[in-house]
Amino acid sequence: MEKEQKGATAEKIDRFEAKRDALMAMGGEKLVQKQHDSGKLTARERLDVLFDKGTFQEVQLFVEHRSTLFGLGEKKIPADGVITGFGQVNGRTVFAAAQDFTSAGGSLGEMHARKIWKVMDMALAARKPFVAINDSGGARIQEGVPSLEGYGGIFYRNTLGSGYIPQITAIMGPTAGGAVYSPALTDWIFMVKKSSSMYITGPDVIKAVIGEEVSQEDLGGAVAHASKSGVCHFATEGDADCLAKIRTLLSFLPDSCQSPAPIASSTDSADRECPELDTIVPDKANRAYDMKQVIRSVADGGEIFEPHELWARNMLVAFIRIMGRTVGVIANNPRFNAGALDVQASDKASRFIRFCDAFNIPLLTFSDVPGYMPGTHQEWSGIISHGAKLLHAYSEATVPKITVVTRKAYGGAYIAMCSKQLGADYVMAWPTAEIAVMGAEGACNIVYRREISEAADPAARRAELVASYEEQFNNPYFASSMGIIEEVIRPRDTRRRVCTLLDALRDKAEARPAKKHNNIPL
Ligand code: HXC
Repeated sequence: MEKEQKGATAEKIDRFEAKRDALMAMGGEKLVQKQHDSGKLTARERLDVLFDKGTFQEVQLFVEHRSTLFGLGEKKIPADGVITGFGQVNGRTVFAAAQDFTSAGGSLGEMHARKIWKVMDMALAARKPFVAINDSGGARIQEGVPSLEGYGGIFYRNTLGSGYIPQITAIMGPTAGGAVYSPALTDWIFMVKKSSSMYITGPDVIKAVIGEEVSQEDLGGAVAHASKSGVCHFATEGDADCLAKIRTLLSFLPDSCQSPAPIASSTDSADRECPELDTIVPDKANRAYDMKQVIRSVADGGEIFEPHELWARNMLVAFIRIMGRTVGVIANNPRFNAGALDVQASDKASRFIRFCDAFNIPLLTFSDVPGYMPGTHQEWSGIISHGAKLLHAYSEATVPKITVVTRKAYGGAYIAMCSKQLGADYVMAWPTAEIAVMGAEGACNIVYRREISEAADPAARRAELVASYEEQFNNPYFASSMGIIEEVIRPRDTRRRVCTLLDALRDKAEARPAKKHNNIPL
């Protein structure tokens, strides 16, 4: 009797293992090989690389679709085309869903979506980051509207999680039509060069409707979205590179808006001088320099992690660590378009500022801005409302805000780059700073137009007036005499000051009027 029972139990366990092993094989050897041949890892391999070795725990492996339409009744789709679960990344819990292209093209049907909802709900309840790995033909065509409902439920949860838990999407295959909107609702989009794409309408539809010819890669590949549209924050070199970079990003971020960001061990000194900064600003005001070098000098170990490296390059945003703590840096980069503000730069900085503020990451701003980019293209692209986003984002941010003016801080653009009146806690200027309504030449041409034209020697008179304007405004002393900036510092002291200030401001608390939410000019 006892022997018989043991046998039945063992059989049950064998059955369980056989069932599980079949599902672990995903779409089968041939399709796994096809996936590898196209340069992609499978969903399971991707999760193995993303998570610390052996820590991934799968959720709802046995879920099956229940559609009977268009031949689906007889069709088995292992794990319904998506692997969901959680594990450890750098020793911290993260939830994830990875679409399995070898199982019905990773297409999203009702149950596939429910599996994703489940881990998103767990991530929200547990207050931990969520990573989505997309590799899918989109809505499962045979299932019809339940697939669309599936996407709707994901969008809703993405929105619930916005500003609450960090959400990251890795695009590692096709993502077409409305399927692009979950990624767009998350905080960060990674793409893999050559093997991933995102678009609302593909090359064939574009050709049929408007006659334009474009390849898939040019239309919606990683480089296109990283450099032209700004939809992609990180264009990566392959699956392994993409997943490694996601791990790096997660190392900067807190679990949720209710947890502090992790503190890395730092061997860099809070008292380190940066002598190279004393000579970085060129003697000639219209000469460029690379603001990225300034950020590197100030950061712990010279390390920066930069989203949107190829897009709106006149504005730099980056995560760095100062004494092991995460800091969000926003900076004009005079190397590109003189660091002027435009539509894209405003959007790039605003979204970054709002992310950092939502997750309690202090903001460090470096300002060298000659103004807004002029022209009909900018005006008709809505620089007025896009520029206003930057004012709004800085003003609503309540995290510690420190600003360093390295050179130009002109006009409205000066105000926009985290000036005192937008709530900066501490504004510092280098001796090379020029805080003014505009550059001296432009100012004198307007204010003294008649006087210059009527002078016996107009060129000499203009030079005189320009020199006097420069003496008055093109330095940090007029602003500092009025308390508009707190301190003029030697550039080499920048890191020391930033370290002390972040330490002093760590427990900053700022009350705001109670309301439902702001209405940022979108
Ligand atoms: C059901 C799908 C599918 C889909 C792919 N498959 N996409 N099954 N619904 N949407 C299946 C294929 O039938 C095939 O099954 C397997 O996945 C692999 O697909 P292939 O075509 O063989 O692969 P490949 O040649 O690499 O081409 C990949 C592809 C292509 C470019 C993604 O499959 C494709 O164009 N799929 C349809 C894309 C699409 O139009 N989706 C709907 C988008 S609209 P078998 O059984 O043969 O192996 C949308 C709306 C979302 O998603 C709205 C949200 C609000």
